[in-house]
Amino acid sequence: MTISVAGFEDFSAAEAAWWRLLNDQQRLDYRGPDSELRTQNNSERVTRFLESRIRQGRLILARCEGELVGICTISPDGFLLDSTVQVWEIADVWVEPHARRKGVATAMIKHCEHECNMRGASEVRLAVYALNEAGLGLYQSLGYEVGAYTLKKNLNPTG
Ligand SMILES: CC(C)(COP(=O)(O)OP(=O)(O)OC[C@H]1O[C@@H](n2cnc3c(N)ncnc32)[C@H](O)[C@@H]1OP(=O)(O)O)[C@@H](O)C(=O)NCCC(=O)NCCS
Repeated sequence: MTISVAGFEDFSAAEAAWWRLLNDQQRLDYRGPDSELRTQNNSERVTRFLESRIRQGRLILARCEGELVGICTISPDGFLLDSTVQVWEIADVWVEPHARRKGVATAMIKHCEHECNMRGASEVRLAVYALNEAGLGLYQSLGYEVGAYTLKKNLNPTG
């Protein structure tokens, strides 16, 4: 397995994986039918997003025998003030279903931690849905601990 920072030659494979991630996330964070996700507007947004991540060297890929099997992103967090603690965020973690439970995500996250550290971070943070057992298991196995809760409330209950 190789883990690397994506280049523009990786765009097509990364984009395809990205849509699989977005569709899969619907299990835990429903935003409407799959068919309505991949509109032209949304496709253009995803393209711009991925291009900017690649340009900034913030899209990380895992490959096995040349095949892309995992993606994730790293970003500096948006803390407004000068601070002595530099925090980066890891997000958009996706491993292709056939490549799971083989250590791909573990290798990607460790690579991300190293990249963030090299870019000045002394701490990394990430978010995971409360019902995402695989994600929770992954991050627990890597020593992550709870730092915050996000809360939600449905404003249009259907009865
Ligand atoms: C979560 C995900 C990234 C894990 O990828 P992976 O490559 O299979 O993870 P690893 O093989 O590195 O697993 C490392 C450890 O995480 C835990 N883990 C992974 N998948 C798990 C699962 N389905 N249930 C419980 N624990 C799990 C285990 O402790 C595992 O170690 P083990 O295999 O020795 O038991 C993958 O299942 C995935 O892409 N899911 C859909 C997207 C997603 O949920 N992303 C995370 C969003 S925050």
